[in-house]
Amino acid sequence: MIFQNDLILRAARGEDIERYPVWLMRQAGRILPEYRKVRASLSGFKELVETPERAAEVTVQPVDLLGVDAAIIFSDILVVPEAMGLEYQLIEKKGPWFEKTIRTEEALKYANTDFDIEDRLSYVLEAIKIANKEINGRVPLIGFAGAPWTIFCYMTEGQGSKTFSESRKILYTNPSLAHELLNRITDVTIKYLKAQINAGAHMIQVFDSWAGILGEEQYAEFGLKYMDKIAQAITEVPLTLFAKGAHNSLSKIVKMDCNAVGLDWNTDIVKTRSLVGENKTLQGNLDPCALYSTHAEIERLTNNMLNSFESKRHIVNLGHGVYPDVDPEKVKTFIKTVKNYEIKY
Ligand code: CP3
Repeated sequence: MIFQNDLILRAARGEDIERYPVWLMRQAGRILPEYRKVRASLSGFKELVETPERAAEVTVQPVDLLGVDAAIIFSDILVVPEAMGLEYQLIEKKGPWFEKTIRTEEALKYANTDFDIEDRLSYVLEAIKIANKEINGRVPLIGFAGAPWTIFCYMTEGQGSKTFSESRKILYTNPSLAHELLNRITDVTIKYLKAQINAGAHMIQVFDSWAGILGEEQYAEFGLKYMDKIAQAITEVPLTLFAKGAHNSLSKIVKMDCNAVGLDWNTDIVKTRSLVGENKTLQGNLDPCALYSTHAEIERLTNNMLNSFESKRHIVNLGHGVYPDVDPEKVKTFIKTVKNYEIKY
């Protein structure tokens, strides 16, 4: 595949770059009026995710409208539990909701692994193919999945939560059930990511959004162990691991078999760089709330972050997904500042 702009792939591999690449987690959807228009023409989020032409359309929007250096396929991490047998709904202003949860061995019947991914998640794979046609080599397309621990959280809690105490309870009351479920999620996720790569994903990111709710030892046992299996299995394209809030585990994550490590906005870039040396690309990590400040302040904060980089091995992003009510013009200022920055390495 020949790209007009493959900065992100080169940055991920540690190759030379003319400038730092930039994209935003959750750039597809949420902030763009053009996204809301497409979504309003359908019954809701799920229909959009499940209609490949429309999902592809909103995947490409940020490339056209914001000028980001990568597209990310418009989908959700929750399509995996659904494919395994646990259906979800997205309730307006409340978030994801599952009618059933897995808290007993009996309920493992809702966590199947013996199905055809290419068939059951064909809508995602189809959306990847259509999006790539529309992007036509302008930038690479990122595929993604939730990390097993984060998917486990939703499958056991059944909804979003600040603490996921039902999920964490199982780690104490029935650890073997937890490992069985985590193993099943891992198997399906590896197959799913490989299917995305076959369909045309040029890079993969794994989101462990709830890494930060576990202590270091528990995260090693119930989180990183499974993340590591994914890292070992995904060898075809560059891989980014993003474990939000897993500060105590960073020294372990940077040793894993991946190209890039995502950092949340609480993580110090200079300290992390001294931990990793030149072995990994770091992705992040401007506070998503910085985009609520003035244009001049966004420019200043972004330049401060860029000045803290001591290597070419960086992909610029926020420290978590862009918030839905951020002004797209502020996002453009962030992107423009990165593009105008002269790289020293
Ligand atoms: O990055 C992108 O733009 C690609 C699309 C994408 C979505 N979800 C679309 C979406 C990605 C990469 C995700 C990942 C995701 N989904 C995560 C991991 C990243 C993170 O933010 O920590 C998690 C935890 C979820 C679960 C999820 N999906 C929640 C909690 C919600 C509701 C609240 C919200 O908006 O985040 C969703 C719904 C969802 N997923 C929307 C979008 C655009 C909002 C749907 C809408 O109202 O149009």
